[in-house]
Amino acid sequence: MKRIVEFTVNGEAREMAVETCCSLLDALRDDVGLTGTKKGCDVGDCGACTVIVDGEPVNACLMLAVEAEGRVVETVEGLQPAVDTLHPLQDAFMRHGASQCGFCTPGILMLDKKLLDDNPHPTDEDIRFGLSGNICRCTGYTKIFDAIKSAARELEAARS
Ligand code: FES
Ligand code: FES
Repeated sequence: MKRIVEFTVNGEAREMAVETCCSLLDALRDDVGLTGTKKGCDVGDCGACTVIVDGEPVNACLMLAVEAEGRVVETVEGLQPAVDTLHPLQDAFMRHGASQCGFCTPGILMLDKKLLDDNPHPTDEDIRFGLSGNICRCTGYTKIFDAIKSAARELEAARS
């Protein structure tokens, strides 16, 4: 059974018919066409599918698309402020070699965005806690810390 759902994705209003059993993750990837949000485990364990809904990080695989009705969703595609400009986090990840695989990095970036939105000067402990929803530690965990701190400094400079 399908239902019409209306929500905002990366600042753009969307209206679509979705199966009531469809996850927000599948709706974003298959219906909206935003494939930056990845499907890792599909059961809420890995954090690869992290998006921000009404300002809070959410595992999009655990949320039904119909639950997004009237809500504001941010995905990794919305991080860039302009087509030719990277978000400071994206830039810092590149400069510090902090990117992990293509499945893990989008979710990590969204968790980091939320972390820096809430806490412009995170300690190592804050970063560790902020990233706890993403389980992959394949490579570059230390570089991720460096990149987050670098982006925090850049955002601070832009504010002052
Ligand atoms: Fe959603 Fe792993 S794909 S938590
Ligand atoms: Fe993606 Fe480990 S599985 S970096």
